[in-house]
Amino acid sequence: MAVDVSLDGRAALVTGGASGIGRAAALRLAEAGARVAVMDLDEPRGLETVDLIRAVGGDAVLIVGDVSRDNEAKSAVNAVVEQFGRLDVLCNNAGIIRRRTVLTLTEEDWDRVMAVNVKSIFLMSRAAIPAMRGTAGRGSIINTGSGWGITGGADAVVYCASKAAVVNMTRAMAIDHGPEGIRVNAVSPGDTDTGMLRQEAHELGQAWADFESGSKERPLARLGQPRDIADAVLFLASDLSAWVTGANLVVDGGGLAG
Ligand SMILES: NC(=O)c1ccc[n+]([C@@H]2O[C@H](COP(=O)([O-])OP(=O)(O)OC[C@H]3O[C@@H](n4cnc5c(N)ncnc54)[C@H](O)[C@@H]3O)[C@@H](O)[C@H]2O)c1
Repeated sequence: MAVDVSLDGRAALVTGGASGIGRAAALRLAEAGARVAVMDLDEPRGLETVDLIRAVGGDAVLIVGDVSRDNEAKSAVNAVVEQFGRLDVLCNNAGIIRRRTVLTLTEEDWDRVMAVNVKSIFLMSRAAIPAMRGTAGRGSIINTGSGWGITGGADAVVYCASKAAVVNMTRAMAIDHGPEGIRVNAVSPGDTDTGMLRQEAHELGQAWADFESGSKERPLARLGQPRDIADAVLFLASDLSAWVTGANLVVDGGGLAG
């Protein structure tokens, strides 16, 4: 007898789904039976994700939009409800990083990182929650945090601030929306092999091979793969986590264990 992680009949919206963790999460949710809307600024790569989902027999659409803009958040949710007739799962995953200290970061970059990583969760969730109320207790919001939402890290002051905000706003949202049958959890990845991580090596002026070997220094001595994080997203989206809300699921090969 198989364990039931089926999302048949449900609809999911994954932000930042054109790349890395978001793409893997979109694909995983589709493999479990959800119809998936991918929201991203990057149209060509977003279409690639849609094609990957369709190639495994899934149903997907792309919504090109900026998660930090209220009108685009509202239109995205409206488009999902129009297309799929419902919205059960919202993955607030889009994010950006700047490897800077308070002395080297610009005010514009502070505002942009906070807008994309934090304000977007407010805007997307505000748009989505009314639609999720109709899902008979199956609403699940999954916010992508980070190990750096729990510990600090060098040259990443605004990113650390933003991800700590994500982790704690997840708890606050869980308290507010649990009574209406909507669960809110965070998944906090450790270093995962995506475009973002490679961009960090570049920003820090480090060769990828050196950066990568540093990232592997953890109990399970390897980099994370996007699928590692996507499996945690699937757990939090499915009924297997029916009594889990306000949690921060760290998926990092044990990086924060010590
Ligand atoms: N890769 C890691 O090591 C790691 C570790 C911890 C947390 N995270 C978090 O995981 C999430 C996904 O990161 P990733 O590593 O897959 O990065 P990525 O750069 O591969 O993907 C991020 C996606 O978000 C999209 N995006 C950026 N700004 C957007 C906006 N304003 N509106 C809509 N889409 C936007 C990008 O176009 C891109 O497709 C982020 O929140 C990131 O902070 C990543």
